[in-house]
Amino acid sequence: MADIRNIVVLTGAGISAESGVPTFRGPDGLWEGHRVEDVATPQAYARDPDLVLDFYDQRRAKLHTVAPNPAHEALGRLDAEWSGELLIVTQNVDDLHERGGAKRLLHMHGELKSGWCLACGDRRPFEGRMAERPACEACGESGKVRPDIVWFGEMPYEMDRIEAALSTCDLFVSIGTSGAVYPAAGFVQTARQFGAETLEMNLDPSEGSFFFHESRMGKAGELVPEWVDRMLS
Ligand code: OAD
Repeated sequence: MADIRNIVVLTGAGISAESGVPTFRGPDGLWEGHRVEDVATPQAYARDPDLVLDFYDQRRAKLHTVAPNPAHEALGRLDAEWSGELLIVTQNVDDLHERGGAKRLLHMHGELKSGWCLACGDRRPFEGRMAERPACEACGESGKVRPDIVWFGEMPYEMDRIEAALSTCDLFVSIGTSGAVYPAAGFVQTARQFGAETLEMNLDPSEGSFFFHESRMGKAGELVPEWVDRMLS
Protein backbone atom coordinates (compact mmCIF):
# COMPACT_ATOMS: atom_id res chain seq x y z
CA MET A 1 0.00 0.00 0.00
CA ALA A 2 3.03 2.26 0.35
CA ASP A 3 2.92 3.26 -3.35
CA ILE A 4 -0.73 4.24 -3.35
CA ARG A 5 -1.54 7.95 -3.36
CA ASN A 6 -4.45 8.43 -5.71
CA ILE A 7 -7.63 6.46 -5.21
CA VAL A 8 -10.91 6.26 -7.11
CA VAL A 9 -13.80 4.51 -5.36
CA LEU A 10 -16.93 3.53 -7.30
CA THR A 11 -20.04 2.64 -5.31
CA GLY A 12 -23.39 1.15 -6.27
CA ALA A 13 -26.65 0.17 -4.65
CA GLY A 14 -25.00 -2.61 -2.61
CA ILE A 15 -23.32 -0.09 -0.31
CA SER A 16 -26.73 1.24 0.75
CA ALA A 17 -28.41 -2.18 1.05
CA GLU A 18 -27.57 -2.56 4.74
CA SER A 19 -29.14 0.87 5.34
CA GLY A 20 -32.42 -0.54 4.01
CA VAL A 21 -32.35 0.98 0.51
CA PRO A 22 -33.30 -1.79 -1.95
CA THR A 23 -30.88 -2.64 -4.77
CA PHE A 24 -32.02 -2.53 -8.40
CA ARG A 25 -31.54 -6.07 -9.55
CA GLY A 26 -33.16 -8.16 -6.86
CA PRO A 27 -34.27 -11.75 -7.31
CA ASP A 28 -37.65 -10.69 -8.76
CA GLY A 29 -35.94 -8.41 -11.29
CA LEU A 30 -38.11 -5.51 -10.13
CA TRP A 31 -37.13 -2.21 -8.52
CA GLU A 32 -39.60 -1.42 -5.73
CA GLY A 33 -42.29 -3.31 -7.67
CA HIS A 34 -41.59 -1.68 -11.05
CA ARG A 35 -39.70 -2.67 -14.15
CA VAL A 36 -36.79 -0.24 -14.45
CA GLU A 37 -37.89 0.82 -17.96
CA ASP A 38 -41.31 1.88 -16.57
CA VAL A 39 -39.80 4.44 -14.21
CA ALA A 40 -36.19 5.20 -15.17
CA THR A 41 -36.32 6.27 -18.81
CA PRO A 42 -37.23 9.56 -20.53
CA GLN A 43 -39.86 7.56 -22.47
CA ALA A 44 -41.53 6.46 -19.23
CA TYR A 45 -41.61 10.08 -18.06
CA ALA A 46 -43.13 11.25 -21.35
CA ARG A 47 -45.74 8.45 -21.24
CA ASP A 48 -46.76 8.64 -17.60
CA PRO A 49 -45.21 11.58 -15.73
CA ASP A 50 -47.48 11.09 -12.69
CA LEU A 51 -46.22 7.55 -12.15
CA VAL A 52 -42.56 8.53 -12.57
CA LEU A 53 -42.73 11.69 -10.43
CA ASP A 54 -44.62 9.88 -7.68
CA PHE A 55 -42.14 6.98 -7.77
CA TYR A 56 -39.17 9.32 -7.21
CA ASP A 57 -41.14 11.38 -4.66
CA GLN A 58 -41.53 8.18 -2.63
CA ARG A 59 -37.82 7.35 -2.94
CA ARG A 60 -36.93 10.91 -1.83
CA ALA A 61 -39.32 10.78 1.15
CA LYS A 62 -37.81 7.45 2.20
CA LEU A 63 -34.38 9.03 2.61
CA HIS A 64 -35.63 10.45 5.90
CA THR A 65 -36.15 6.92 7.22
CA VAL A 66 -32.68 5.52 6.45
CA ALA A 67 -29.21 6.26 7.82
CA PRO A 68 -25.63 5.75 6.66
CA ASN A 69 -24.12 2.38 7.59
CA PRO A 70 -20.53 1.53 8.60
CA ALA A 71 -19.45 1.36 4.94
CA HIS A 72 -20.54 4.96 4.23
CA GLU A 73 -18.99 6.09 7.49
CA ALA A 74 -15.70 4.35 6.72
CA LEU A 75 -15.50 6.13 3.35
CA GLY A 76 -16.24 9.41 5.16
CA ARG A 77 -13.28 8.69 7.42
CA LEU A 78 -11.08 7.84 4.43
CA ASP A 79 -12.08 11.13 2.83
CA ALA A 80 -11.23 13.09 5.98
CA GLU A 81 -7.88 11.39 6.60
CA TRP A 82 -6.45 10.35 3.22
CA SER A 83 -3.78 12.84 2.23
CA GLY A 84 -3.54 11.76 -1.42
CA GLU A 85 -6.09 12.28 -4.15
CA LEU A 86 -9.46 10.64 -3.65
CA LEU A 87 -12.61 10.65 -5.74
CA ILE A 88 -15.69 8.74 -4.60
CA VAL A 89 -17.92 8.23 -7.63
CA THR A 90 -21.35 6.94 -6.70
CA GLN A 91 -24.06 5.58 -8.97
CA ASN A 92 -26.45 5.99 -6.06
CA VAL A 93 -29.02 8.75 -5.97
CA ASP A 94 -29.43 8.63 -2.18
CA ASP A 95 -27.58 11.03 0.14
CA LEU A 96 -25.99 8.46 2.43
CA HIS A 97 -22.40 9.17 1.37
CA GLU A 98 -22.78 12.85 2.27
CA ARG A 99 -24.38 11.94 5.58
CA GLY A 100 -21.51 9.49 6.18
CA GLY A 101 -19.06 12.39 5.85
CA ALA A 102 -17.85 12.04 2.24
CA LYS A 103 -16.88 15.34 0.58
CA ARG A 104 -14.77 14.35 -2.40
CA LEU A 105 -17.89 12.84 -3.92
CA LEU A 106 -19.53 12.85 -7.31
CA HIS A 107 -23.05 11.57 -8.12
CA MET A 108 -22.66 10.29 -11.68
CA HIS A 109 -26.35 9.25 -11.92
CA GLY A 110 -27.73 12.39 -10.25
CA GLU A 111 -29.46 12.84 -6.90
CA LEU A 112 -32.93 12.33 -5.48
CA LYS A 113 -32.64 15.61 -3.64
CA SER A 114 -32.02 17.65 -6.77
CA GLY A 115 -34.51 18.98 -9.30
CA TRP A 116 -33.93 19.87 -12.94
CA CYS A 117 -36.20 22.37 -14.68
CA LEU A 118 -36.87 21.37 -18.28
CA ALA A 119 -38.04 24.91 -19.07
CA CYS A 120 -34.91 26.83 -18.06
CA GLY A 121 -32.28 24.15 -17.31
CA ASP A 122 -31.87 25.19 -13.68
CA ARG A 123 -30.64 22.45 -11.33
CA ARG A 124 -30.94 22.99 -7.60
CA PRO A 125 -31.58 21.14 -4.32
CA PHE A 126 -35.16 19.90 -4.11
CA GLU A 127 -37.26 18.65 -1.19
CA GLY A 128 -40.94 17.84 -1.33
CA ARG A 129 -43.15 16.38 -4.05
CA MET A 130 -42.65 16.88 -7.77
CA ALA A 131 -45.96 15.14 -8.50
CA GLU A 132 -47.65 18.30 -7.13
CA ARG A 133 -46.03 20.17 -10.02
CA PRO A 134 -44.31 22.96 -8.06
CA ALA A 135 -43.14 26.08 -9.88
CA CYS A 136 -39.45 26.27 -10.75
CA GLU A 137 -37.72 28.59 -8.28
CA ALA A 138 -35.58 30.02 -11.07
CA CYS A 139 -38.05 30.69 -13.92
CA GLY A 140 -41.44 30.29 -12.25
CA GLU A 141 -42.82 27.71 -14.73
CA SER A 142 -44.99 25.06 -13.15
CA GLY A 143 -44.81 21.35 -13.90
CA LYS A 144 -41.40 21.43 -15.55
CA VAL A 145 -39.21 20.24 -12.68
CA ARG A 146 -38.16 16.60 -13.11
CA PRO A 147 -35.88 14.43 -10.97
CA ASP A 148 -32.24 15.37 -11.57
CA ILE A 149 -31.46 11.72 -12.20
CA VAL A 150 -29.71 10.13 -15.14
CA TRP A 151 -32.19 7.78 -16.77
CA PHE A 152 -31.38 5.01 -19.22
CA GLY A 153 -30.35 6.54 -22.51
CA GLU A 154 -29.08 9.75 -20.84
CA MET A 155 -25.46 10.76 -20.31
CA PRO A 156 -23.99 10.30 -16.81
CA TYR A 157 -22.62 13.44 -15.17
CA GLU A 158 -19.00 14.58 -15.07
CA MET A 159 -17.53 11.83 -17.23
CA ASP A 160 -14.50 14.01 -18.10
CA ARG A 161 -13.63 14.44 -14.44
CA ILE A 162 -14.13 10.74 -13.76
CA GLU A 163 -11.98 9.66 -16.69
CA ALA A 164 -9.21 12.05 -15.66
CA ALA A 165 -9.24 10.57 -12.14
CA LEU A 166 -9.27 6.99 -13.49
CA SER A 167 -6.29 7.70 -15.69
CA THR A 168 -4.16 8.93 -12.79
CA CYS A 169 -5.27 6.68 -9.92
CA ASP A 170 -3.04 4.06 -8.34
CA LEU A 171 -5.95 2.12 -6.91
CA PHE A 172 -9.49 1.64 -8.17
CA VAL A 173 -12.00 0.17 -5.74
CA SER A 174 -15.52 -0.92 -6.68
CA ILE A 175 -18.08 -1.48 -3.91
CA GLY A 176 -21.58 -2.94 -4.12
CA THR A 177 -22.26 -2.72 -7.83
CA SER A 178 -23.39 -5.50 -10.18
CA GLY A 179 -21.31 -4.22 -13.10
CA ALA A 180 -24.37 -4.38 -15.33
CA VAL A 181 -24.62 -0.72 -16.31
CA TYR A 182 -22.10 1.13 -18.48
CA PRO A 183 -20.15 3.37 -18.46
CA ALA A 184 -19.55 2.66 -14.73
CA ALA A 185 -19.06 -1.05 -15.43
CA GLY A 186 -16.10 -0.18 -17.67
CA PHE A 187 -14.21 1.96 -15.14
CA VAL A 188 -12.21 -1.04 -13.91
CA GLN A 189 -10.82 -1.64 -17.41
CA THR A 190 -9.93 2.03 -17.88
CA ALA A 191 -8.14 2.16 -14.51
CA ARG A 192 -6.23 -1.06 -15.32
CA GLN A 193 -5.18 0.24 -18.72
CA PHE A 194 -3.56 3.17 -16.92
CA GLY A 195 -1.77 0.84 -14.50
CA ALA A 196 -3.96 0.98 -11.38
CA GLU A 197 -4.42 -1.84 -8.91
CA THR A 198 -8.08 -2.88 -8.82
CA LEU A 199 -10.13 -4.23 -5.94
CA GLU A 200 -13.77 -5.24 -5.80
CA MET A 201 -15.90 -5.63 -2.67
CA ASN A 202 -19.33 -7.09 -3.33
CA LEU A 203 -21.79 -9.60 -1.93
CA ASP A 204 -21.56 -11.76 -5.07
CA PRO A 205 -19.10 -11.70 -7.97
CA SER A 206 -20.15 -8.84 -10.28
CA GLU A 207 -20.47 -9.30 -14.03
CA GLY A 208 -16.96 -7.92 -14.49
CA SER A 209 -15.36 -9.65 -11.51
CA PHE A 210 -12.61 -11.18 -13.63
CA PHE A 211 -11.33 -7.70 -14.56
CA PHE A 212 -10.25 -7.04 -10.96
CA HIS A 213 -6.88 -8.00 -9.50
CA GLU A 214 -8.68 -8.90 -6.27
CA SER A 215 -12.31 -9.59 -5.35
CA ARG A 216 -13.50 -9.72 -1.75
CA MET A 217 -16.95 -11.20 -1.29
CA GLY A 218 -19.09 -10.15 1.65
CA LYS A 219 -21.12 -7.32 3.12
CA ALA A 220 -19.95 -3.78 2.45
CA GLY A 221 -20.69 -2.87 6.09
CA GLU A 222 -17.95 -5.27 7.15
CA LEU A 223 -15.47 -5.27 4.25
CA VAL A 224 -15.24 -1.50 3.70
CA PRO A 225 -14.36 -0.54 7.31
CA GLU A 226 -11.69 -3.28 7.32
CA TRP A 227 -10.22 -1.99 4.06
CA VAL A 228 -10.27 1.66 5.23
CA ASP A 229 -8.58 0.71 8.51
CA ARG A 230 -5.78 -0.94 6.50
CA MET A 231 -5.41 2.07 4.20
CA LEU A 232 -5.17 4.52 7.10
CA SER A 233 -2.92 2.39 9.33
P1 OAD B 1 -27.49 -3.43 -8.64
O1 OAD B 1 -28.77 -3.64 -7.91
O2 OAD B 1 -27.44 -3.79 -10.08
O3 OAD B 1 -26.32 -4.25 -7.93
C1 OAD B 1 -26.11 -4.19 -6.54
C2 OAD B 1 -24.94 -5.10 -6.20
O4 OAD B 1 -24.71 -4.97 -4.81
C3 OAD B 1 -25.16 -6.59 -6.48
O5 OAD B 1 -24.06 -7.11 -7.20
C4 OAD B 1 -25.27 -7.21 -5.10
O6 OAD B 1 -24.66 -8.50 -5.03
C5 OAD B 1 -24.46 -6.24 -4.26
N1 OAD B 1 -24.86 -6.18 -2.83
C6 OAD B 1 -26.10 -6.34 -2.30
N2 OAD B 1 -26.05 -6.18 -0.97
C7 OAD B 1 -24.75 -5.91 -0.64
C8 OAD B 1 -24.06 -5.66 0.57
N3 OAD B 1 -24.68 -5.64 1.74
N4 OAD B 1 -22.73 -5.43 0.51
C9 OAD B 1 -22.07 -5.45 -0.68
N5 OAD B 1 -22.66 -5.69 -1.85
C10 OAD B 1 -23.99 -5.91 -1.84
O7 OAD B 1 -27.07 -1.90 -8.41
P2 OAD B 1 -26.01 -1.00 -9.19
O8 OAD B 1 -24.85 -1.80 -9.66
O9 OAD B 1 -25.74 0.17 -8.33
O10 OAD B 1 -28.99 3.50 -12.56
O11 OAD B 1 -26.87 -0.55 -10.44
C11 OAD B 1 -26.29 0.35 -11.35
C12 OAD B 1 -27.31 1.30 -11.89
O12 OAD B 1 -28.41 0.57 -12.43
C13 OAD B 1 -27.95 2.20 -10.88
O13 OAD B 1 -27.21 3.36 -10.59
C14 OAD B 1 -29.23 2.56 -11.52
C15 OAD B 1 -29.64 1.22 -12.07
O14 OAD B 1 -30.47 1.23 -13.13
C16 OAD B 1 -29.83 4.51 -12.75
O15 OAD B 1 -30.83 4.71 -12.06
C17 OAD B 1 -29.44 5.37 -13.90
